[in-house]
Amino acid sequence: MCGIVGYVGKHNPKDVLLAGLKALEYRGYDSAGIALKNEDETQIIKSVGKIKNLEEKIDCSSLIESNIGIAHTRWATHGAPTENNAHPHHVGKVTLVHNGIIENASEIKERLLKEGVKFNSDTDTEVACGLINYYYDGDEVKAIENAIDELTGSYAFGIMFEGNNNLYAVRKGSPLIVGISDNENYIASDITAIINYTNKYMLLEEGEIAVISDSEVKLFKDGKEINKEVLTADIKAEDKDKQGYEHYMLKEIMEEPILLENTLKTFLDDMSLVPDLGDYEEIHVVACGSAMYAGMIGKALLEEKAGIRVICEVASEYRYKKIIYDRKTLVILVSQSGETADTIAAMRKAKENGIDTLAIVNVKTSTIARETDKQIFIEAGPEIAVATTKAYILQVAIFGLLAYKASHSENIISEIKKLPRYVKEILDDRDRYLNLAKEIYKNNDVFFIGRKVDYAICMEGSLKLKEVSYLHSEAYQAGELKHGTISLIEDGTPVFGIITDDDIRDKTISNIEEVKSRGAKVIIVSNKLVSGYDRQIIVPKISEFFQAILIVPCLQLIAYEVAKLRGCDIDKPKNLAKSVTVE
Ligand code: G6P
Repeated sequence: MCGIVGYVGKHNPKDVLLAGLKALEYRGYDSAGIALKNEDETQIIKSVGKIKNLEEKIDCSSLIESNIGIAHTRWATHGAPTENNAHPHHVGKVTLVHNGIIENASEIKERLLKEGVKFNSDTDTEVACGLINYYYDGDEVKAIENAIDELTGSYAFGIMFEGNNNLYAVRKGSPLIVGISDNENYIASDITAIINYTNKYMLLEEGEIAVISDSEVKLFKDGKEINKEVLTADIKAEDKDKQGYEHYMLKEIMEEPILLENTLKTFLDDMSLVPDLGDYEEIHVVACGSAMYAGMIGKALLEEKAGIRVICEVASEYRYKKIIYDRKTLVILVSQSGETADTIAAMRKAKENGIDTLAIVNVKTSTIARETDKQIFIEAGPEIAVATTKAYILQVAIFGLLAYKASHSENIISEIKKLPRYVKEILDDRDRYLNLAKEIYKNNDVFFIGRKVDYAICMEGSLKLKEVSYLHSEAYQAGELKHGTISLIEDGTPVFGIITDDDIRDKTISNIEEVKSRGAKVIIVSNKLVSGYDRQIIVPKISEFFQAILIVPCLQLIAYEVAKLRGCDIDKPKNLAKSVTVE
C-alpha cells in the first residue's frame, strides 16, 4: 500500500519527511527512502526495513542544501523488498514515489528498453518514472498527462523534475492529499502524515494534476486549471500519541468504552438516524479482513433477529464474481480506512448495477465515504496499530443497531447504555488475559470454535491472535472441526470455545467435549458459567444484538499479551499494512 509524503517550502525537508514517514509507516514497512533536490542535484537515500533504518542512514549522510523533497515507505508488490527496489526512483530528469500497482508495466518497460532507457530495479514504479521522463520536454504537466494516458492500474505519484522547484502529484485508485500552509505545502497519502504542520488540505480527485510550489497550489484537469475547496481536518496532533501506553494496539483497545459511549449515544438519542433495512429484500455485506468479520456478525444478527436475507462476501471475491441482483438489494461496504482497493471496486460494481450502497466507515474523507449513497461514520478517530481493534468493535456496534432496529424488538436502549461500562470492566481485568497468554504463548497452534454468531467472533479472535503474535491459529465452526482438522489437536493444544448463543450452547459444548477428550486445553469464553474446563472467561450477559462486543475485547487483549510475550512488533506485524490500497 505504501505511504507517500512530500514537502516544498523554506526549510530542509528532511525532518518533515521523516516525521511523515513515521506517521505513514502503518501503510507498509518493507523499505523506505527520501529524495532531496536543489537546482544542481538530487540526493536519494534508501534503506531496507523500517523507517528507523532510514533515519540512521540519513544521520550518517551529509545532506545537500534543499527545500523540496519526497519520501516513501513501501509495502512490496512488484520486486522484492531490496534497497534497489525501494522508492524514490529516478530516471533521467524525473524522481518519483508511487503507491499502487502499474498493471501494464512490463509492456511499457519493453518498449522503453528498446528506446535505450536503462532501469535499475524490478519495480513497476521505475517504469512509470521512465515513462514520464520519456515524455518530458520541458512541460511537466504535459509529460504527466501523456504518461497517465498510457498507464493502467492504480497510482498516487509524488514527482519532482530536475530544473524546477515544484512538486507534482497525481492519483488514480490510491489516495493522495495536498497539504496547505503558509509558504510551505505538502503532499501525503493521508493527513496524519502532516497534521503536526497543517490541518488544511485539498483532496486530489482522480486524474487531477497538482503543481505545488512553496507559495501556491495549482490544479489541472484535462489540460484546464480548476479550483478546489480547502478542507480542515478535525483530528488533533495528540490523537496520534500513544498517551503513555506501550503500544498503539493497547491504547486503541482501551479507548473502546469511551468510543462506544460516544458513537452509540448519537443513535440511541435518535434511532431515526439508524437506517431502516426493512425495505430491502437482500443485503450484501462486503469488506476485507476484520471489517469482513464484523460483517459476519452483522449477517448473523440480521438473519436471525430481523429475518433479512444477507450475503456476506469478501470484497476481493465479490468484485470479480457473478452477482445476481434480482431482488431489491442494499450493498453495505464496511471499511475502517474507506480506501481498501477491493472494497472500493466492490462498491463501484454495485453502483454500476444501480444498487443502493451504504458505507460503515471511519475516515470521512475517504473514497468509500464519498462515493456511497449513505454513510454511517463509526467515529473511531485515527487508528494507528495495523491490526484493527477499536474500529472493529464500533463496526460491530453499528451492525447491532441496524439489526435491533430492523427486528422491531422490544426497547433495550437502557441495556445498550450499559455496554461501555461492561467493556471497561472487562478491559480493566488485564491480569486475567496476561495469565492466560502465559499459558498458551509457547504453543504452535491455537483453535477457536463456535457456532453461528460465535463462529463469526472466532474468526476475529483467531485473526487478531495470528496477525500480531505469528502463533498459528484457526477458527472453525464447532461442528465442522471433526471433519479433518481435529487431527491437529494434541495434548495441550489450546482451544477457545466461544459460547454466547443460548440456542446452540449444548451443541457447542458437545464439540468442546470432543476436543477435550483428545487432550485439548479448553478455554471457555462465554456469558454463562460452563464448568468442567481448564479455563473460563465469563463476561456479563447482554442483549444478543451486542453480546459480541463483550467477548472480542477479551480476545484482543489475549492476542496483545501473547504477541508481547513472543517479542513481536505488535503495532507493525510483519508483511502487513493497515490500508490495503492495491488489489
Ligand atoms: C488490512 C488491515 C486490517 C483491516 C483490513 C480492511 O488487512 O490490516 O486490520 O481489517 O485491511 O481494512 P479497512 O480499512 O477496509 O477496514
